[in-house]
Amino acid sequence: MRNNIGVIGHPINHSLSPVFQQAALDYLGNNNVFEKWDIHPEKLEEKIKSFRNESFIALCVTLPHKQNVIPLIDELSDSAKAIGAVNWIYNKNNKLVGDNTDSTGFIRSLSERYKFVIKDKSALVFGAGGAARAIIYGLIQSKISRIVVSNRNFEKAKFISNELSNSKIKIEPIIFDRDSLANYAPYADIIINTTSLGMSGGPAPMASPISSDLISSNTFGYDIVYSPTITPFIKQFENSGAKYGTGLSMLLYQGVEGIEKALNVKAPVNVMQKALDAL
Ligand code: ATR
Repeated sequence: MRNNIGVIGHPINHSLSPVFQQAALDYLGNNNVFEKWDIHPEKLEEKIKSFRNESFIALCVTLPHKQNVIPLIDELSDSAKAIGAVNWIYNKNNKLVGDNTDSTGFIRSLSERYKFVIKDKSALVFGAGGAARAIIYGLIQSKISRIVVSNRNFEKAKFISNELSNSKIKIEPIIFDRDSLANYAPYADIIINTTSLGMSGGPAPMASPISSDLISSNTFGYDIVYSPTITPFIKQFENSGAKYGTGLSMLLYQGVEGIEKALNVKAPVNVMQKALDAL
């Protein structure tokens, strides 16, 4: 099997990346096969070593390896450093360089796909895990003016808020209950779910962190959960007559950014989108 480009995770069968990345490679006339490697955490170091060769191009990294690859590679981009997670590794002059395109992918899906302008807006973010870090970092880079974070474990909301706040923006942690949300949610320009609530196969597949009565029709909703496409969270936005974006767009655009940086080309976004739509 070739060892040039692909995705690594455990498990990996569910990964949609090979589908739309292969479509991109084919369109670009690149002869490589976008591989899928199921690598147990104990075998991660050995596998990463195997990419230290000239023909290696790039690697998309998914759960549970996004943090564990960091000590095994040579350099990190600013976003990977700030977020503390890597979802792409590129071969740059025989060095393994880690990058995080989850944040830029999220931002590009908002601006390019949904024409949502983030600058000077206010956001309510549900969740305080690794995915929330990428989203919050992206919002800050895009000059949002206010961020409120709500998480079941309030200590984690406080921690992430402190850590990602800077001189320009002070992130506000709030309690994850109805009364607290009622003071913020109806006034937010965008509400983003980064928790696993509503994810099929997750801990609470039928649940949404917010109900439609707290959602204004002027608020944009975005769920990073993409299975199912229309999550319980998104249904609350539909019920409120609000606009929304679905997580498949973030998945697509993290891959668009990744392949563009890996190959130094413009990615065929429409071709990749079509491959995803055909699933
Ligand atoms: P990831 O790195 O993908 O963000 P994670 O670190 O496990 O994953 O975070 C999952 C998020 O979903 C957390 O914010 C978690 O809240 P807690 O910090 O309170 O655990 C949230 N989450 C998971 N199940 C939840 C539930 N039943 N109700 C509310 N929030 C939940």
